[in-house]
Amino acid sequence: MILSEKEQKIFNGEHGEAAQQSMEILVALGNIYNAEKMIPITSAQVSGVSYKTIGDAGLEYLQDLVKKGAKTTVPTFLNPAGMDTAQWKEMRIPEDFAKKQIAILDAYFKMGIMKTCTCTPYLIGIRPKKGEHIAWAESSAVSFANSVLGARTNREGGPSALAAAICGVTPNYGYHLDENRIAKMIVDVECSLKSTADFGALGSAIGELAKENNVAFKGIKTATEEQLKVLGASMAATGSVALYFVEGITPEYAVADDAEKISFTQTELNNTKTKLDTVHKTRDSKPQLVTLGCPHASLKEIEEITNMVSNKKPTCEFWICTSRKICEEAMKRGYDKIIEKAGGRIVADTCMVVCPLERMGYKITGTNSGKAGKYLQNLCKQKVAFGDLEDILYR
Ligand code: F3S
Repeated sequence: MILSEKEQKIFNGEHGEAAQQSMEILVALGNIYNAEKMIPITSAQVSGVSYKTIGDAGLEYLQDLVKKGAKTTVPTFLNPAGMDTAQWKEMRIPEDFAKKQIAILDAYFKMGIMKTCTCTPYLIGIRPKKGEHIAWAESSAVSFANSVLGARTNREGGPSALAAAICGVTPNYGYHLDENRIAKMIVDVECSLKSTADFGALGSAIGELAKENNVAFKGIKTATEEQLKVLGASMAATGSVALYFVEGITPEYAVADDAEKISFTQTELNNTKTKLDTVHKTRDSKPQLVTLGCPHASLKEIEEITNMVSNKKPTCEFWICTSRKICEEAMKRGYDKIIEKAGGRIVADTCMVVCPLERMGYKITGTNSGKAGKYLQNLCKQKVAFGDLEDILYR
C-alpha cells in the first residue's frame, strides 16, 4: 500500500503506540484485500460493546488501548451494549455482568467515543451522505448506510472500525469502490408487503439465497425507512448482504448483465413467516416476552406500538429497544407511561440479542424482526414466536 506522509508517521509510531497499532491493523487489512491506499472517513461505528459478546479478553484489549493513549479522530459511536445503563437493575441484569459492562463503556468513552449505544445511528441524526466514506461495523447499520443512504462502508469488525476511528482512514477496497456496488441477484417481489414482519421475512429468505452478494429488488412499490432497516438487517443476518437496491427507492440501482433472477411470491412469504415462528402451533407458542426494535426502533414505531397497546393490553411482557436519544424523546411525549401501564418497557442502549436474555429466565421470546428471529435462537437460547405485531403481542 502507498501511505501518505502522515499515515507513514503513524505507522512508524510517531503518533503513539495505540495509533501505531491501529495503523498496523489497517495496513494488514489493506494488503489482504489489495487496497492501493487509505481513504479518509467521516465517521466510525464500533461493534464489540456488549460484555456478552466480547467477554474479559475484549475488555482487557480495550483497557490496554486506553493505557497506550488511544483517542478517536473522527466522530465515533457505539453499537448497543449488554444492558440499559439507566435501568439495568429493573431489567434484572446480573450484577457481575453490569460491572464488566460499565468498565467496557468507560474504556470506550476514555477514547473519546460518543455516548450513544445504538445500531440505528441514522435515526438520531448521524446520516452520512451519498458517496461519503465511513467505517461502520454493525451489519444492519452497514446495510442501511450503503443501501438507503448511499454512503460507502465495508462490514467492519470491531477492531478494524476502532482502528479506523483512531487513524481517521480506512483501506480503499470492497464497498468503497464502484465496481463492487453492483447487484448479482434480482428479486421480483410479486406479493404485497404489509408489515415489518413481512419485510423481515423477505430479508430472511433472500439473505439465505444471496449469501454475500448484492441484491436488487423490483416490485416493491413503497417502503418506509423503518421497513428498509428491517429488510437490510434480516439479509445481513441470514446472509452477509451489505448492499441492496430497491428500484425507484434507493439512491443507487446497478445490476450486473448476468445477474440471477428470482421471484418472491405470497406462498414464499407465508412459508418463511411460518418457518421463522419456531413455536408455530406447539403447546409453547405463546411468548413470555415480546421484544421489538431490531434494529433499534424509531420514534414513529414507538408511537405506533403505544397507540396499539393503549387500546388493548398485550397478553405478555414486552420491550421496545431503542437508542437513548429516542427513548428520551418518547418519555417527553409520555409514551413510556402508557407502555408501562400495558406491561411493557422502553429499553435503551441495548437489545434483546446482546443483553444476557438467557440468564434472565426467558425461554420463549416473540419478535417481528427477521434478524432477531435468527439470533434469539443462536445467541440467546430462545424459542422464537415470529409474526406481525398484533399476532405476537396478543397470542
Ligand atoms: Fe440492533 Fe440488536 Fe438487532 S444490535 S440490529 S437490535 S440484534
